[in-house]
Amino acid sequence: MNLQETITKRFKEVFGTDGTLYASAGRINLIGEHTDYNGGFVFPGAIDKVIMAEIKPNGTDKCHVVSIDQNQEVEFGLNEADAPKEMWARYIFGVCRETIKRGGKVEGFDAVFAGNVPLGAGLSSSAALESCFAFALNDLFNDNSIDKFELARIGQSTEHNYCGVNCGIMDQFASVFGKKDHLMRLDCRSMEYEYFPFDPKGYKLVLVDSVVKHELVDSPYNKRRESCERVAKRLGMETLRDATMEDLNAIKGDITAEDYLRAKFVIGEKDRVLAVCDALEKGDYETVGKKMYETHEGLSKDYEVSCEELDFLNDLARREGVTGSRIMGGGFGGCTINLVADDRYDHFIKTAVKEFNDRYGHEPRIYDVVISDGARRV
Ligand code: GLA
Repeated sequence: MNLQETITKRFKEVFGTDGTLYASAGRINLIGEHTDYNGGFVFPGAIDKVIMAEIKPNGTDKCHVVSIDQNQEVEFGLNEADAPKEMWARYIFGVCRETIKRGGKVEGFDAVFAGNVPLGAGLSSSAALESCFAFALNDLFNDNSIDKFELARIGQSTEHNYCGVNCGIMDQFASVFGKKDHLMRLDCRSMEYEYFPFDPKGYKLVLVDSVVKHELVDSPYNKRRESCERVAKRLGMETLRDATMEDLNAIKGDITAEDYLRAKFVIGEKDRVLAVCDALEKGDYETVGKKMYETHEGLSKDYEVSCEELDFLNDLARREGVTGSRIMGGGFGGCTINLVADDRYDHFIKTAVKEFNDRYGHEPRIYDVVISDGARRV
């Protein structure tokens, strides 16, 4: 049974009727990491891995939601005091509350959902879940009157207010706006965006998932963001968007060595996104790949969000002559994204699986990237 059949079958069993199906996607990001909350550029695309939900208004003020993957059922009301304790349910509750806070209408509903976005791999399964429900509530209760950026912000605010992650807008933007065969360059300050057809002839994009997720004590993601904000403030700027290396070097003595390194990465990364866009337009994949390696180096040494397993996969990619490779997403585990020439692909995958397994005792998971549509009614 595929995802859709599993969900509709379960919905019928639990609720004895049929609802409407919605889906939203996980995402990859070609380049532009930790730039979104710094007012910089990102370059993501939605992928063919989704969270799918069947939903039906139930005429009450309660929501009854079944998670097939967690094998749990939760019921919650729509008032602030009704927040469920299960993390997966908090995402859905948060989306309801954030919709209501923006003046949107939400009434009780029954829902069953499941997904095939790998969890903890840095592919934004949580943004897919948020975007799926934000899109659905807009369609079911609000005549689609809430615009797409607002849907993305509903998901982002859910992370901030109900999940403790002070994230940027990239993941929810990609999940909502994703378009088949296109990457999107988003300017996270002006929120202007452009679709770029993505068809890397002669190359493949492939994810190598380390299947490790390091314990995130002290929310290191939020700490990275705080470092950037401190440096921007010291520079008298709203974000690091306009900062240059000269600006940063001029205040080097006034900030901590750690904050200096964080800002150095962000400043470099902004330029790399633009360089990659130019290179893509010329079909110059060698430059795209070179920039990806530079990003990895910065994320590992300066931003310090990599880990041993991901550095191992990155070194291995270099040795195997992979065109570009880097850690993807927030970091601290998850996967690398690799741009590989067709004729090197088989050898690279075989070697990565074997050597990673020899070293860490489990195989990495391999996902070929298929750029697909974002939030939708199925
Ligand atoms: C996570 C966040 C995003 C972004 C990336 C890093 O995925 O949710 O907003 O900051 O990390 O680029």
